[in-house]
Amino acid sequence: MNAFLSVQHVSKQFGGVAALHDCSLSFAKGRVTGIIGPNGAGKTTLLNAITGLVKPDRGSVVFDGHEVTGLPMHRIASLGLVRTFQIVRELRGLTVLENLLLSPPHQVGERIGGALFARPLVKRQDQKNAFKAREILQRLGLWRVADHSAAALSGGQKKLLEIARALLPDPKFILLDEPAAGVAPPLLKDIIRLIKELSAEGVSFALVEHDMHLISEVCHDVHVMAEGTALVSGSFADVTADQRVIDAYLGMAL
Ligand SMILES: Nc1ncnc2c1ncn2[C@@H]1O[C@H](COP(=O)(O)OP(=O)(O)O)[C@@H](O)[C@H]1O
Ligand SMILES: [Mg+2]
Repeated sequence: MNAFLSVQHVSKQFGGVAALHDCSLSFAKGRVTGIIGPNGAGKTTLLNAITGLVKPDRGSVVFDGHEVTGLPMHRIASLGLVRTFQIVRELRGLTVLENLLLSPPHQVGERIGGALFARPLVKRQDQKNAFKAREILQRLGLWRVADHSAAALSGGQKKLLEIARALLPDPKFILLDEPAAGVAPPLLKDIIRLIKELSAEGVSFALVEHDMHLISEVCHDVHVMAEGTALVSGSFADVTADQRVIDAYLGMAL
């Protein structure tokens, strides 16, 4: 497999807990890769270690030929590797459009120096972002609520807004943590369609998800994690038939 993103022997301890233990996984370019596993398996920590939110204790993360292990999140994002974030309390009071325009952590204007020395550039960037924000909101069916407070959105619309924020910097690879959680079926269909469309346009995805319908619908490859490490990888059909996976879930419904 031609790895676009490769995680090699990554470990991460929190106090006495090994959230990741010698975890090695790879993700192919242009594909949607699912990450499944029981609660506490280390899935969210893996996404955080990949995107720079958490610094691995050991091991390496290589994205698109760049060693990114331990780099700050904005540096990793500027290479095109981003994760979605929940709309936090402070942002819920802002409008949908404002949420989008404030989001990218690696905008020129937010770099030290950039804000001081590149004002015309910042302005151009703002205008470009405003235009793109509109395009993205239209595409995601959120344009008609662009001026509504983000707090008024449904659970599913909030998930779409999280994805919208990740799309603004034109990422090559998007990591999603439980995109289906709390989403009603009609909007879940929209999210599934969006992931498929973006994938067809060349964006790669990794998604952590408990909703096996979503995993089976959109994922080309699936990694199963348990106890901080990768257990089995393959197609959805392969991994769900694997006895080690069934044992790891100990009878939980797949
Ligand atoms: N910031 C943290 N501080 C302490 N323990 C953590 C932290 N983040 C995760 N953990 C622990 O690491 C393990 C893996 O957690 P997590 O990555 O959230 O798993 P998953 O997303 O698969 O449910 C769990 O035991 C969790 O309690
Ligand atoms: Mg999690």
